[in-house]
Amino acid sequence: MKILKLMDRGAKILGSKYSILGGAMTWISESNLTSAMSNAGIFGVLASGAMNGDLLKSEIKSTKEKTKNNFGVNIILVNPKLHDLIDICGEEKISHVILAGGIPDKTLIDEIHALGMQAIAFAPALSIAKRLFKHGIDSLILEGSEAGGHVGPLSSMILIQDILLNMVGYPIFIAGGILRGEIIASLLQLGAVGCQLGTVFACCKESIAHKNFKMALLRASGRNAVTPVQLDKKFPIAPVRALENIGTEEFVEKQREVLAKFEKGEIALDNGRLSLEHFWAGALRRAAQEGDIDRGSLMSGQIVEIIKEERSLREIIDTVLREAEEFLSK
Ligand SMILES: Cc1cc2nc3c(=O)[nH]c(=O)nc-3n(C[C@H](O)[C@H](O)[C@H](O)COP(=O)(O)O)c2cc1C
Repeated sequence: MKILKLMDRGAKILGSKYSILGGAMTWISESNLTSAMSNAGIFGVLASGAMNGDLLKSEIKSTKEKTKNNFGVNIILVNPKLHDLIDICGEEKISHVILAGGIPDKTLIDEIHALGMQAIAFAPALSIAKRLFKHGIDSLILEGSEAGGHVGPLSSMILIQDILLNMVGYPIFIAGGILRGEIIASLLQLGAVGCQLGTVFACCKESIAHKNFKMALLRASGRNAVTPVQLDKKFPIAPVRALENIGTEEFVEKQREVLAKFEKGEIALDNGRLSLEHFWAGALRRAAQEGDIDRGSLMSGQIVEIIKEERSLREIIDTVLREAEEFLSK
């Protein structure tokens, strides 16, 4: 197959059959989904989210029980247990650590290499991509703002032109707003080594996400997957792409309330910021695991526009490969 040839380099980097990563999704990418991804031939990534070392260890072990294939672990840089989590990955002989939620420094990359693992990070700009490769990062993911979850300001299309096309030859994966095989094949032709998909896997049959969560995503259109409105620069809001719901409306109200209190001198800047930060605490778990689609965080990418049914991983991957192959054979 032509597509497999194009995927060859990325698949070798990941140690998987296809050079597609199943993007980590906190509270969703646990052992069942991650192992199912790896069993289906893509590179499953376990989301460590806010886990501590013990929890991660047991998730890694239970993933290994369900698959003999390779998988990676996604670690958020701000996790207070960051170094413990990296140590556990080393002990468990994980092949790749995917560092999210910030730009890793050289020391951290070296720490991962010293444990025999590859380090993958996200680059939101060309200068950062160049610096990360200089610091020894093994591969990069360019994730456009169409993606679900925490996003940067630039779309995939801009990152592709700014970074990928200026760094052809470097091991770069693309994420954000990707589903069809034609796009994946085109990105590989442009020099990417593979792609990372997230939202579509949150909605697949093997995903443990609550049925309410899946239904909300399957029924949504792309325009419903928004980043939150920020009322005032003094109170910066993390750009997290999620479906609009009662919670997102109440969050605007909450900002209004905090802003009014701050202007009246009733609340300090730091406390106001903290109360806004706390607003979404536990909200993804409430939506994804408990099914609270009204006030939970329905993180999802704009790609929900074209995800309309709950399919199995096998169906999703087979379709992608078929579309890519037909495109390449034209
Ligand atoms: C519900 C949800 C949770 C996510 N959690 C994480 C996370 O914990 N760590 C991370 O690096 N990316 C996270 N992401 C981003 C995905 O790993 C992936 O990069 C993204 O979904 C790809 O774009 P797409 O949604 O357009 O397919 C999350 C995405 C979603 C939809």
